[in-house]
Amino acid sequence: MKTLFKNIKELIQVRDKHIDFIAGAEMKILPTIKDAFLVVKNGLISDYGKMDDCPNAEFDTIVDATGKMILPSWCDSHTHIVYAGNREGEFVDRINGLSYEDIANNGGGILNSAKKLQETSEDDLYNQSKTRLEEVIQLGTGAVEIKSGYGLTADAELKMLRVIKRLKENYPIEIKATFLGAHAVPSTFKNNKRGYLQMLINDVIPKIASENLAEYIDIFCEKGYFSVEDTELILEAGKKHGLIPKIHVNQFNAIGGVQAGVKHKALSVDHLEIMRDEDIEALKNTKTMPVALPSCSYFLSIPYTPARKMIDAGLPLALATDYNPGSTPSGNMNFVISTACIKMKMTPEEAINAATINGAYAMGLEKQVGSITKGKLANFILTKPINSYGFIPYSFGNHHIEKVYLKGLEID
Ligand code: NIG
Ligand code: FE
Repeated sequence: MKTLFKNIKELIQVRDKHIDFIAGAEMKILPTIKDAFLVVKNGLISDYGKMDDCPNAEFDTIVDATGKMILPSWCDSHTHIVYAGNREGEFVDRINGLSYEDIANNGGGILNSAKKLQETSEDDLYNQSKTRLEEVIQLGTGAVEIKSGYGLTADAELKMLRVIKRLKENYPIEIKATFLGAHAVPSTFKNNKRGYLQMLINDVIPKIASENLAEYIDIFCEKGYFSVEDTELILEAGKKHGLIPKIHVNQFNAIGGVQAGVKHKALSVDHLEIMRDEDIEALKNTKTMPVALPSCSYFLSIPYTPARKMIDAGLPLALATDYNPGSTPSGNMNFVISTACIKMKMTPEEAINAATINGAYAMGLEKQVGSITKGKLANFILTKPINSYGFIPYSFGNHHIEKVYLKGLEID
């Protein structure tokens, strides 16, 4: 199966050579080819270049992309899209003056979602989650990480991970699974946080590893949730079973989670709304990707990750949605890049690099997706006719995608 895309106004994020991720001043550079062609063979990118060099061969399909652009699909490295019901009620409570913290302290928040999920059958959970997965695919996402963490019992956490596995089996999008059992202390272990962590370590993690249900291990390292000490404990236990750390840190308070992540060679440290100079220092010259979640800052009205300061200090940055029922009920990466430009002062080039190649790295998929590179999966977005790629973040909240392709196939 061979497809030619011809007369592409601009082919975006073209990387001839493999790179793991992009950092610092280089994030301002987004390589493109104007008036380009792209060839897809058996689901992979097999060739690209200037239209002047377009091959004169036989193709099964030819797509004329006159006036349109092609860019790699968004790589959303942090989501919680497997959940039950929603928390619209808490949204209204916040409008009426309660804080996210007040709601959590009253038994709402993560515990509210956990109760709903425990009462939801695996099939129902799968059906609710697949609707969201289909929605984000249409919004241009071509690789996604999905966390557990709304189960908070051994059974319910495993149920979530099995749902992720089913999604992986049934959809052409790349999916990575993360175990986030330590998302909150469930009411059954109130005043016995240690007991809960021990249960996760002794009963759940070995099962996950033996059934191959997750690649990554996560924890919510935050005041009122889990300490740095708890974080180290759970990361150690996960690592013993081959789970690589990717953690929630510095959302509301900086308590040393970034340093713990770096120490345990986390693939990514995510949220980072509150960053001290020492946290930025700790990330320098490491392989740990900082991940910002601007839709969460938008929805909760909390500070935005200080992207400018971090990139200017030479760090890389990835952007992700954090799609979840409590802090970010949106999986729209187009909105994420707009918000990163508007609120975090990232340039369109930086935002697109952060949402493609750096996002791919943050979920261990940098060899498969995130750039237009020969041999990578043909997961990309064909835009509507637009004048420049900067129009995508500029014209925020509007829909610029004409078609999405996964493994070279158009997704309806
Ligand atoms: O990434 N911060 C921790 N966890 C989620 C939200 C949890 C919730 O409110 O359901 C997040 O924002
Ligand atoms: Fe999250």
